[in-house]
Amino acid sequence: MLVTGGAGYIGSHVVLALLEAGQDVLVLDNLSNSSLESLARVERLCGRAPRFVEGDIRDRALLDRLFAEQRIGAVMHFAGLKAVGESVQQPLRYYENNVAGSVTLCQAMAAAGVFRLVFSSSATVYGEPPQMPIREDFPTGTPTNPYGRSKLMVEEILRDLSLSEPRWNIALLRYFNPVGAHPSGLIGEDPQGIPNNLLPYISQVAVGKLKELAVFGDDYPTVDGTGVRDYIHVMDLADGHLKALAALAERNGVNVWNLGTGTGYSVLQMIHAFEQASGRSVPYRIAPRRAGDIAECWADPALAEQELGWKARRGLAEMMADTWRWQSNNPDGYRPASA
Ligand code: NAD
Ligand code: WQD
Repeated sequence: MLVTGGAGYIGSHVVLALLEAGQDVLVLDNLSNSSLESLARVERLCGRAPRFVEGDIRDRALLDRLFAEQRIGAVMHFAGLKAVGESVQQPLRYYENNVAGSVTLCQAMAAAGVFRLVFSSSATVYGEPPQMPIREDFPTGTPTNPYGRSKLMVEEILRDLSLSEPRWNIALLRYFNPVGAHPSGLIGEDPQGIPNNLLPYISQVAVGKLKELAVFGDDYPTVDGTGVRDYIHVMDLADGHLKALAALAERNGVNVWNLGTGTGYSVLQMIHAFEQASGRSVPYRIAPRRAGDIAECWADPALAEQELGWKARRGLAEMMADTWRWQSNNPDGYRPASA
């Protein structure tokens, strides 16, 4: 099994789950947004390390060599850039990494006769859906930024690919809002610089690294005026990947599954739940809406339950407790305290 981007936040949790399930794992990561320490900790947790190659999914010669030299039956493809704001500033970098990188990966897979692929997609491909909860058969919409468009483009490329060659079997996993960390507090999300996403921001405020949270808008048509999202524990997400991979053995073509809980929480509900779990207060102020945000977004997860036998099991309190354990044990993420 090849895992691209396996040193990153979601990838490292999935690598751990794969190793624990007895799979043989090769990680390819260019470490542009991660460090090898995540995989060292994976080894501490399960007593086994994945094989690791530092390299880039855009490097076709490297990919050809890996497929020729290593036993690879399937690919889980996490590698990519994911900062929405940065994607607006640097669209070509995003299209090159996310779209061209995925094309190169698929070319190398096809050349090597490997046709099983699990792709990290995102609820962002739905754009601004007309109603909630979001089902997989809703039409994809217009994402509001290059990051989101890059995810939608890759989905469409993979659909074309599967039409052209029936041996492909592909899972498009549309994540809602991944949060949380392994319950050990050893692996978790380690954003570089100021976090873009809500929960890493909240936890850095709680640990004292940031002064206060800006709540982007309190005049949305939601329960308390703040944005509502479907936050899903990264451990549940990891489990969903293993179930999707297993299901692909008996499926062809492109399969789309939402990975969400089916429940939405507002920004203020998230703040209060985090305060309860951590015993810290999270100062915040109301700020203007953030461009490109939608009011609410949550999944209908029924299809994944029906077809994969998968369902998110961890609730909000567990998401918060595990985030806090990770953040308070590792205030500087994977960087040593002196760095
Ligand atoms: P992450 O940044 O922690 O992990 C991505 C990994 O890919 C990093 O280790 C990075 O070094 C590596 N990488 C980036 N470009 C590469 C390249 N060209 N070649 C090799 N390695 C490369 O992000 P994450 O949160 O773990 O996200 C994983 C995937 O899930 C991404 O594709 C992301 O777009 C997608 N996704 C994430 C979220 C989220 O909120 N975290 C939501 C929906 C979808
Ligand atoms: C959640 C809520 C904000 C930060 C993004 C990407 C999506 C996917 C996941 C992946 C919203 C509010 C946030 C802050 C706030 N990406 N917020 N203050 O926007 O749902 O999704 O991440 O790779 O593609 O678009 O997640 O965590 O940024 O925001 O008030 O400082 O928190 O307005 O309502 P989002 P988020």
